[in-house]
Amino acid sequence: MAGIALRGLTKDYPGGVRAVDGLDLDIADGAFFALLGPSGCGKTTLLRTVAGLETASAGTVRIGDADVTRVPPGRRDVGMVFQDYALFPHMTVADNIAYPLRIKKVGRDERHAAAGEVAAELGLGTLLARRPGELSGGQQQRVALARAMAARPKVFLLDEPLSNLDARLRLEARTFLKRLQRELGVTTVFVTHDQAEALAMADRMAVMRDGRVEQVGTPAEVFRRPANLFVASFIGSTPMNLLPARATAEGIEAGGAVLPHPAPGVTDGELVYGVRPEYLDGSTEPVEGAFEGRVAVVENLGSTSLVTIDTGRSDRAGELVHVVVGEGEEPEPGTSLWARPRPGRALLFRDGELVGGRLEKT
Ligand SMILES: Nc1ncnc2c1ncn2[C@@H]1O[C@H](COP(=O)(O)OP(=O)(O)OP(=O)(O)O)[C@@H](O)[C@H]1O
Ligand SMILES: [Mg+2]
Repeated sequence: MAGIALRGLTKDYPGGVRAVDGLDLDIADGAFFALLGPSGCGKTTLLRTVAGLETASAGTVRIGDADVTRVPPGRRDVGMVFQDYALFPHMTVADNIAYPLRIKKVGRDERHAAAGEVAAELGLGTLLARRPGELSGGQQQRVALARAMAARPKVFLLDEPLSNLDARLRLEARTFLKRLQRELGVTTVFVTHDQAEALAMADRMAVMRDGRVEQVGTPAEVFRRPANLFVASFIGSTPMNLLPARATAEGIEAGGAVLPHPAPGVTDGELVYGVRPEYLDGSTEPVEGAFEGRVAVVENLGSTSLVTIDTGRSDRAGELVHVVVGEGEEPEPGTSLWARPRPGRALLFRDGELVGGRLEKT
């Protein structure tokens, strides 16, 4: 098995698109690592460059002890599951799974024995004679995984392997993948643009934007201490409240409220106060140190509700603030609500970068 180390990795496509831009990244041996970022940020290109399906324009790729930057894909010991699975429609499940071994010139009997073994591990034993068109989406996904596993690679690269599954299958597949990775202990890079999936599955994760890494850390670190406004607004199933702020003698002023300053001493620059809707306590009675607003929208999230309040007054236009409230605590639209940040949960950004609040290590 092997870790992955990328240094100054750059990929330019013809036509002047720089899809990966001088990227440095270390992925530990045996880690389940998620690569997260918006569409077009370079996730697939990065995986393909690690696999050797694209040639790096600059920089290096190391897998384990070896510099593989110029090594062809077949000799990198990498198993990849593609965004669209890319199964061969005319081949049976058995032949699909055995394909990487055929490329490696493993004999017919041996490769079918190996394919049968992997298929059994993934619960595909009874489907070996079928073709991909005769399988459910979840089964196809497992065939793609089995094909990636068949040659027992050192590294798994999974490009949005769950994106074609419906919500329920997706949850099952998440658990299945996570368990499989634990059992095999193979270094796995998992690409997703779904932040909830990355948070739920990864040991560590990187948030990408425009071919660069914005932050690397554990899911808890990235969730609690987003390094900048981009990460702060990208992570979280209900987006973080991010309000223009101003330091005063009393504290910090944001959304018409005066609140405890998350980073006393920081007074200059362009300040943004950030607090997640989950970390605001709603009250129908007036409270000090809280946002005050009129309830504009109440959205049911299942066991909780997301309440949007408008902090505007007759004398000034208001910011919208989102608050998560518990079951049975939903306020009526049009009524007043006070939303108080829990102590220690607010963040402060200066010129886009995190400068205060929850800076302790997690
Ligand atoms: N073969 C190609 N030729 C030229 N440009 C490309 C090629 N493949 C990708 N790109 C461009 O490179 C950038 C990164 O694309 P990439 O497919 O790596 O993004 P991604 O993060 O995987 O996006 P998605 O979440 O939509 O899959 C995009 O601007 C894309 O248009
Ligand atoms: Mg992609």
